[in-house]
Amino acid sequence: MPRFYVTTPIYYVNDVPHIGHSYTTVVADVLARYHRLFGDEVKFLTGVDEHGQKVQQATQKNGREPQPYVDEMAERFRAIWKELNIQHDIFFRTTDAFHVKGVQACLQQLFDKGEIYSEDYEGLYCVSEEIFYTEKDLVNGKTPLGNEVVPLKEKSYFFRMGKYQKALIEHIEKNPGFIQPENRKNEILGFLRQPLHDLCISRPKARLSWGIELPFDRDYVCYVWFDALLNYATGVGYQQPGREQEFQTWWRDTGAVHLMGKDILTTHAVYWPTMLMALGAGLPKTIFAHGWWLTESGEKMSKSKGSVVRPLDMKDVVGVDPLRYFLTRDIHLGNDASFSPELVVTRVNAELANNLGNLLSRVTNIVDKNFGGAAPALTSAVAPESQAVLAKIEGLADRVAACVRALDPQGACLEVLELLNDANKYIGDRAPWKQVKEPDLAPAAETLAVCLEVLRVAGILWHPIMPTKCEALLKVIGFATVPAFANARLVRGMPAGAKITKPEPLFPRVDWKPDGK
Ligand code: MSP
Repeated sequence: MPRFYVTTPIYYVNDVPHIGHSYTTVVADVLARYHRLFGDEVKFLTGVDEHGQKVQQATQKNGREPQPYVDEMAERFRAIWKELNIQHDIFFRTTDAFHVKGVQACLQQLFDKGEIYSEDYEGLYCVSEEIFYTEKDLVNGKTPLGNEVVPLKEKSYFFRMGKYQKALIEHIEKNPGFIQPENRKNEILGFLRQPLHDLCISRPKARLSWGIELPFDRDYVCYVWFDALLNYATGVGYQQPGREQEFQTWWRDTGAVHLMGKDILTTHAVYWPTMLMALGAGLPKTIFAHGWWLTESGEKMSKSKGSVVRPLDMKDVVGVDPLRYFLTRDIHLGNDASFSPELVVTRVNAELANNLGNLLSRVTNIVDKNFGGAAPALTSAVAPESQAVLAKIEGLADRVAACVRALDPQGACLEVLELLNDANKYIGDRAPWKQVKEPDLAPAAETLAVCLEVLRVAGILWHPIMPTKCEALLKVIGFATVPAFANARLVRGMPAGAKITKPEPLFPRVDWKPDGK
């Protein structure tokens, strides 16, 4: 059975969940649900990154002890994923004891092999920002934020990252799908044309105590990225006695697909593979950097730019499934796109309310009124325009699957949308509301039967994007449970006489105006 292991970044707990986190998690969920629909075995990991400077600062600011604070914040992420109908298999927390032990085992192994060494580091340190600067970073002798720096000498531990530069370049060049999309791969190759430095993986406890202690020096904790990146492997059993088979299956044999935003590609595409090379643990299959949601004026959306309606609040305006639809539909994975409440509402009204919603309500209303609520049978010979719509169903499921396997959820979504567009034009042209007034009901029956096939296929193939709505849609046309993928591959898959019910509008028009307009 094919397997699919997909991950999102593990999010810093100091921030409340926002559109950036939600986007990657929804995309990963859509991909994972598609693979489950295909019958693949799936593992989907998401979680939270709980150690490090940012989290320590947040706990201090809030006057809290770190553990209860991160426990509480982790729950916020769990709650929002539940609300967004995210079906993750693993919710990872870096403070879990098994992970801490796994990271320490890695550190010790690398230290014993000489892959980690200590050295005095001399730099210009800014006490208030807790950051080392080099001469060239400074502006008039001060940090870019205008703070004082002092020379500081400190022992640090380094991972011999530079040693793996050549091997990494070779791996990227030999495996074209390793870093995607292509432009990001080229960026990383460009970055690797400069000498690759070793990576400082320690922080003295005197400055940062909230982290995983180095097993070979108790005065230090581990750099947060070194700890966090390992989650993808410890999450499937790495460094854990008794879980070797699981690690073999999911990590080595299947290979992870890591999704993350382009701003954190370097840590994933350079630090992480070199760490794995040093550990001899095997590399992920794909590292995919997606783009950003931008404001209408082209800036990266972020919490601090508090617009009146926050992106996640849109789920209360349009509903969870339509928001999932928008996030999948409006960005080609890898590119940037604009987000605004108006864009979400316009899209939802045009494609869900007018298109899918209208088709569903027209068909179910007429079947209810004129056919006693029983799906008319589709005869073997049909009119050319009916055949043309049925021909669009042929091969559609496989085209959707090909898009998903190529990590193009937008493409999968649009394949189905195209069928719905055709079906809407078809129902408009054939006007079954007029056809039912003729003495011969056969043409009306044919129109409705063709449209029901379209609704069946769309309901199955959009289910990963809008699980609740599509389940309801399929129920309305007589399917008590979501049919298997094999059913979506059938051109004629409606059982004749299936019970059709007149639904409450499943995709109502959204009437929304920004405050004050
Ligand atoms: N903790 C690290 C990841 C460690 S993974 C081993 C981290 N966490 S984060 O909470 O800051 O995650 C941010 C994620 O949200 C990134 O993937 C980032 O690209 C994404 N986004 C934040 N704002 C975004 C948009 N406006 N649009 C799309 N995604 C963006 O980094």
